[in-house]
Amino acid sequence: MNQAKAIEAKPFSLLAKVYDSIMSDIDYEDWGEFILDTAKKHGWHGQGPVLDLGCGTGNSTFPMFARGLEVVGLDYSAEMLEVARIKLPPVEFIQADFKNIKIDKEFSLVYSVFDAINNLLVDDDFLAMAASVYDMLEPNGIFLFDVNTTIGLKELWVSGQAEGWAGDVYYNWNHSFDSKTGLAKVEAYCEDNDINFTETHYERPYDSELITKLLQELNFKDISILKYPGGGPAPKDAPRIWVVAKK
Ligand SMILES: C[S@@+](CC[C@H](N)C(=O)[O-])C[C@H]1O[C@@H](n2cnc3c(N)ncnc32)[C@H](O)[C@@H]1O
Repeated sequence: MNQAKAIEAKPFSLLAKVYDSIMSDIDYEDWGEFILDTAKKHGWHGQGPVLDLGCGTGNSTFPMFARGLEVVGLDYSAEMLEVARIKLPPVEFIQADFKNIKIDKEFSLVYSVFDAINNLLVDDDFLAMAASVYDMLEPNGIFLFDVNTTIGLKELWVSGQAEGWAGDVYYNWNHSFDSKTGLAKVEAYCEDNDINFTETHYERPYDSELITKLLQELNFKDISILKYPGGGPAPKDAPRIWVVAKK
């Protein structure tokens, strides 16, 4: 391990090479099932096309593809998309920033998984993303996503550190929360036989009140804040919430 000499890479660039190893214990299949079930409970008709916002390496895209739904993935990281395209050649993957999405297609369901939305650090960026989602949704279409809350980001990896091995990949991720800026910072060091790098990521917490206010500004209706698993109303101290809203 030679952390001192690590390359500082931009967010979600070199991480693409080791992302799937590090996420190998994440149950994307369960999340996929939860998203589809929850969308149906909120009136989704069950047909595509659907859009995976912040699809990364395609792990969150796969459950929809496997069920025969037409699914499109969107992400700003060329490196993450490169992995996704190799994994799922028939799927359309679009490189775009959440803040500037232009897709000439109507979706019945737009979803986002695993903190992708927390990467939007100010209200205006969230509003730009959500306004594009609103435009892309068909009437009564569903927007469904997860976000870390303030409690979640303050308590992430309680000790402030997550360290270990994922297959051949050594990782040592340090987490801190800056009460002045209200942002969480993750310094993610990763190393395998070929590479040795750190990426610094920032996340902004989104609590129920803020999310509800921002979505209402854009005329989303039937906004629910849910817990996972189970899908009932999220408790006040939930570290991560799932948000469902309808156009
Ligand atoms: C933690 S990963 C989640 C990836 C995937 N959904 C999963 O569950 O494995 C967050 C993803 O959001 C993408 N992302 C972050 N900010 C973005 C932005 N402003 N525009 C587009 N994609 C963004 C990153 O490139 C990354 O692939």
